Amino acid sequence: MTDPIFSANWLMPCFEEKTSATEFFRPFRLKGAVKSAVLCVSALGVYEARINGEKISWPLAPGWTAYQHRVQYQKYDIAQYLQEENTLSVTVAQGWRMPYGFQGVTPVKTWTTPEISGDEYALIASLHIVYADGSEELLLTDEGWTAKETKYRSCNLYQGDVYDETFEEKTHGVRILEHPKKILVPQEGEIIAEQERLKPIAVIHTPKGETVLDFGQNLTGYLSFSLTVPAGKTLVIDHGEILDRDGNFYNENYRSAKSRIVYTGDGKTRAWKPAFTFYGFRYARLTELPCAFEPDDFTAVVLHSDLERTGYFECSDEKINRLYHNIIWGQKGNFLDVPTDCPQRDERLGWTGDAQVFARCAAYNFNVNRFFRKWLSDMSLEQLSDGRIVQIVPRLDWVSPACGWSDAAVIIPWQMYLLYGDRELLARQYVTVKRWIDYTYEKGEAYIRGKHFGDWLAMDAPDPKSCRGGTDHGFIAYAYRAYATELFIRISRALGMRENETADYEEKLCMTKAAIRAEFFSGGMVTLPTQTAHVLTLQFGLCESAYAQAHADRLAGMIRANGDRLTTGFLGTPYLLHVLTAYGYAELAYTLLFQTKNPSWLYSVERGATTMWEHWDGIREDGSLCGADMNSFNHYAYGAVGDWLYGTVAGIETDEKKPGFEHIRFVPKTTERLAFAKGSVKTKYGVAASEWHREGDTVRYVFTVPNGTTATAEIEDGSHTLGAGTHTFTVKIS
Ligand code: BGC
Repeated sequence: MTDPIFSANWLMPCFEEKTSATEFFRPFRLKGAVKSAVLCVSALGVYEARINGEKISWPLAPGWTAYQHRVQYQKYDIAQYLQEENTLSVTVAQGWRMPYGFQGVTPVKTWTTPEISGDEYALIASLHIVYADGSEELLLTDEGWTAKETKYRSCNLYQGDVYDETFEEKTHGVRILEHPKKILVPQEGEIIAEQERLKPIAVIHTPKGETVLDFGQNLTGYLSFSLTVPAGKTLVIDHGEILDRDGNFYNENYRSAKSRIVYTGDGKTRAWKPAFTFYGFRYARLTELPCAFEPDDFTAVVLHSDLERTGYFECSDEKINRLYHNIIWGQKGNFLDVPTDCPQRDERLGWTGDAQVFARCAAYNFNVNRFFRKWLSDMSLEQLSDGRIVQIVPRLDWVSPACGWSDAAVIIPWQMYLLYGDRELLARQYVTVKRWIDYTYEKGEAYIRGKHFGDWLAMDAPDPKSCRGGTDHGFIAYAYRAYATELFIRISRALGMRENETADYEEKLCMTKAAIRAEFFSGGMVTLPTQTAHVLTLQFGLCESAYAQAHADRLAGMIRANGDRLTTGFLGTPYLLHVLTAYGYAELAYTLLFQTKNPSWLYSVERGATTMWEHWDGIREDGSLCGADMNSFNHYAYGAVGDWLYGTVAGIETDEKKPGFEHIRFVPKTTERLAFAKGSVKTKYGVAASEWHREGDTVRYVFTVPNGTTATAEIEDGSHTLGAGTHTFTVKIS
């Protein structure tokens, strides 16, 4: 049975409205005892639904999808809230339909018709009541509803909130919007939910004389406060991620996003929080404060997709533990319905490259299967007719593909398969993957030599101002095409296809490798002098196997010659420690992990980071910033190293032949720099766990294998086959 929302009407207010929020409401009276009452709601925009004043919807519903193709609707069981006389009200604001996009100038695509522009909003809802006597009643959005102006005078994801307690809320009629209902789909993704609530850890009086609240953690969400702001007086709050080198409030890195709360009081004590916006911040400057306050009057409410936490990691080194904490918070901050690059500046977009490099780590930390399923549906819908995968999903007007970004279409479903055994997703995405790979071959040279981001933000660009790294883009494009083709073959095999069915792609893979070798290799070795070129050569199997070790040796030499430091960017970094480990350089991988000089993971940790930074050197040694224009302190990409913490330090690895941890590979690499390490992953079978303790010349390993799975442990004294249960091994190390 289709949900009754399809019989309802899209409503718009009968007054010109874009930036503020409008409440649509409808009183109704029950005819008797209620057996069930199900409310379906959606909006072009975001909504908050209330029954008799009680909020019953999830934050920022209906979420963010490729709006030009589909909008989710949500279902709420509201029977428990009903009385004899009721009012159903839904307040709607622009949400992601505002001119959202890159630096606020290139808007995200939405379904715009002559009747509704991309930045206007509309509501649709149905309430289906079944009475105890079996009779039914259907309440649909129609002309019987009323629209009311609200105190939310402006709510804008980038600019923030303007709220006026003294505003007189006038009522108006509504009009029906002729807009297709076929774009409505049931909720596919995880819901967004309020999570932690943090209190200020300090009230800072800065050298400039500002009053700044420090919540101790860079986060995504909003402030909630309880204050008595005098009537007509205005409280202004600005958000920031860091303090500048002098200890003053700083948020120039938000670019054009003002991220400001402007709240006008009415003399009464009121508890308030935003409802249609979110902010990325650690610090809140009380820019204009017309009343007394206690720090406790403020709370930072953390907001993200309601993902189940599945992974845990801990070791004997506090800095590594802090790095791990920052990785987790980088994910929390950027998994808000869509995997975003950052949560604070005028961007906050579904950049495919960032998501791709972090997806594996993300899937250890939290159960992101459903989250990515939803986003990958949007990616498929946004795929262009020629097979192109765009760089940002939901997409803007930009449609050029980029290697390592568009390849998210292949890499993410594959990671979901490895981590969750989601074969059905592989089958669902198969056509998208194939069309993307075919595009890269059909366009050939034009694609390879096209515009790419390259090894984004790598430290080896000849021009230090360039973001695009020092590794040739043609090489990277070939390398990723080879990798994507290889994964496509593996995806086809996982779906039961035979060798003859993938023969074409085997041939294409050989062709790509031959082209790379012809242009970028000499004497069996890649000629490009960058770490990333060597990392990708090894990780993607681009050289002949006889030359693999020589590449690893050279990579190790380059790292050592650079003072035991990496130079890699977004594309090289995620695989760096993996390839070192695979070729006998686990100890050097640890050296990079423990490195504190720039560039390194612990460099930001030593500078007090609480999330992952976009740049290795977002804050320079002398305290100056590497720039204001593109300098986020909550960008998860370099947090991809978390999969090495789980997979190599704790040593819990997937097995492609039995994905989803049906078979677990315990492959920990211990180091004398750590006394212990432990990790666990909640799989669909139960918790898989690994820990080790180094005690003198022995290592004690403890492996936990959940019921229904098997495991193999590769440790110093050989390989052990393990059944369900807990297994302890004590081995001597030389
Ligand atoms: C984003 C990145 C993104 C990049 C594309 C930036 O503005 O913040 O994380 O991947 O553009 O190169």
